[in-house]
Amino acid sequence: MTATPSVTMIGLGPMGQAMAAAYLERGYEVTVWNRTPGKADHLVARGAHRAPTVEAALTANDLVVLSLTDYDAVYAILEQAPSALAGRTVANLTSDTPEKGRQAAEWLARHGAVQITGGVQVPPPGIGTPGAMTYYSGPKDAVEAHRAALEVLTGIDYLGEDPGLAALYYQIGMDMFWTSLVGYLHGQAVAAANGITAEEFLPHAVKTVDLRYFLEFYAPRIDAGNHEGDVDTLTMGAASLEHVLHTARTSGVDGSLPAAVLDVFRRGIAAGHGKDSLTSLIQVLKQ
Ligand SMILES: NC(=O)c1ccc[n+]([C@@H]2O[C@H](COP(=O)([O-])OP(=O)(O)OC[C@H]3O[C@@H](n4cnc5c(N)ncnc54)[C@H](OP(=O)(O)O)[C@@H]3O)[C@@H](O)[C@H]2O)c1
Repeated sequence: MTATPSVTMIGLGPMGQAMAAAYLERGYEVTVWNRTPGKADHLVARGAHRAPTVEAALTANDLVVLSLTDYDAVYAILEQAPSALAGRTVANLTSDTPEKGRQAAEWLARHGAVQITGGVQVPPPGIGTPGAMTYYSGPKDAVEAHRAALEVLTGIDYLGEDPGLAALYYQIGMDMFWTSLVGYLHGQAVAAANGITAEEFLPHAVKTVDLRYFLEFYAPRIDAGNHEGDVDTLTMGAASLEHVLHTARTSGVDGSLPAAVLDVFRRGIAAGHGKDSLTSLIQVLKQ
């Protein structure tokens, strides 16, 4: 007979709820704790154990999964029962900065626990679905020891021992995600102002945001420091952005987003990169 696998889930926002539900579906014995206890009601109805205290939640299982708003919330909870952390592996799937990931790993180590840092790459409905991935970093042996439990949630994209690495990759992805998504919304504001619905524009939007060709073309050039303007130039990009800005403003749409992008292009041109590729903006942005 094999023992029923078990896990503690702390944090029952939309993400933590999806995670606890995935564990229940896979037959895990799940102990849950949340600052607002009522959010555990439907999980308890499905068989989860509601821990009365943080201490009870931490001592219930070797593996403790955290899904909280940020690391301030992590400390607000764990500081309620630091002595209960000894011997635990804490899969901290809370998003925050790389520095905070490293500091929390040290803090947990001082209390006898091991942190696996995670950056979940899917929204709550993606938990437990094929292809979903999470960046992980921290001690490889801890990740391997809990591989089966972690894979109930998503696949494992292990990056290395540095506990800040998963957060760093996650934040780089979010940097791209938020700016791209707001770019999409800005475009849809211009579309809507001109009577074009988001659904009408959808096939064109999908084609436009498929940047794979550009990324594969630029990545080796970026790494080689090759910013040759043989395919595109900052001057061309700035002219194009002037048109974007003008179209937005004459449509009655706030132009601050394309204006900010245009400002970066203009700074690149002022720095002498007018005839260079737009990849030269990396040098401007790094300053
Ligand atoms: N949602 C997504 O699409 C998504 C996707 C990828 C990654 N993530 C990351 O996954 C994590 C959880 O996501 P979520 O959407 O579930 O976020 P959320 O709604 O912000 O998570 C809230 C959780 O944090 C708790 N919390 C916040 N401040 C607290 C404090 N001071 N003390 C104690 N508990 C506190 C909340 O408790 P109460 O219930 O008591 O308020 C709740 O359990 C976040 O780090 C997020 O960035 C989310």
